[in-house]
Amino acid sequence: MTLQDDITRSAATIRARAPQRTPRVGIVLGSGWQGVVDHVDEATAIAYTDLPAFPAVGVAGHAGQLILGRLGGAEVAVLAGRQHTYEDGHADAMKGALRTLAAIDVKTLVLTNAAGSLNPAMGTGSLMLLSDHLNLPQRTPLHGEPGSSRFVDMRDAYDPALRRIAQEVAKKMGKALHEGVYAWQLGPQFETPAEIRMLRLLGADAVGMSTVPETIVARHAGMKVLALSLITNLAAGLDAEPLSHAQTLAAAQGASASAVRLLEALAPALA
Ligand code: HPA
Repeated sequence: MTLQDDITRSAATIRARAPQRTPRVGIVLGSGWQGVVDHVDEATAIAYTDLPAFPAVGVAGHAGQLILGRLGGAEVAVLAGRQHTYEDGHADAMKGALRTLAAIDVKTLVLTNAAGSLNPAMGTGSLMLLSDHLNLPQRTPLHGEPGSSRFVDMRDAYDPALRRIAQEVAKKMGKALHEGVYAWQLGPQFETPAEIRMLRLLGADAVGMSTVPETIVARHAGMKVLALSLITNLAAGLDAEPLSHAQTLAAAQGASASAVRLLEALAPALA
């Protein structure tokens, strides 16, 4: 079985299980964003384990489900659960899942994550739209891709028109929406304070362990990308708090309701 076979079979399963659904917006939920699932109306959930192109992910909460339905009235395909490069070292962990979305005609992909802030003025609970990224690990999900399409243009990887729409929606809601550069770190260890000072010098505004390989897959597949970070902590060395996954999840939980409301308002504007 090739990856393409798995994608074809996954797309066929989705069409068979949810024949009435026509999602044009895909959403990948990161830490703190899982509450979106409860806002999907007319939901059909399909376990990743029934979709051969999808990754094996943990079973906590809704993780490991593709949910099709309506969010804020818009037809969406929500990926609850992502595999990170730090889990097994592979940057192409989400390639099959995202290409399956493209195969069922999803045109716009919204990537969400939890991230650390490099700017004390953008504190815990803030939301940041990605304007660009730094792929510092220089890892790619496109190794072995044939043809010239592998030379993906990464200018405006985060679609400027979609970013404007997101800013308008946030403004209408009276919500502050920062915009900045996301530095991808492989993890799973957090950064050292020296690494955070380096990232600041390089122009990063936030740091996290996901999203960038997914953006590359999506741009290669011809989807437009919008990405949002929920700031769960100031990065290492910027305050006295020790960093832990539990702290990240707790902070994400606290700010989650506001993040989810923004996404619900955003979905129809992106469709
Ligand atoms: N560093 C890396 N990834 C993260 C952080 C951080 O400080 N916070 C949430 N995800």
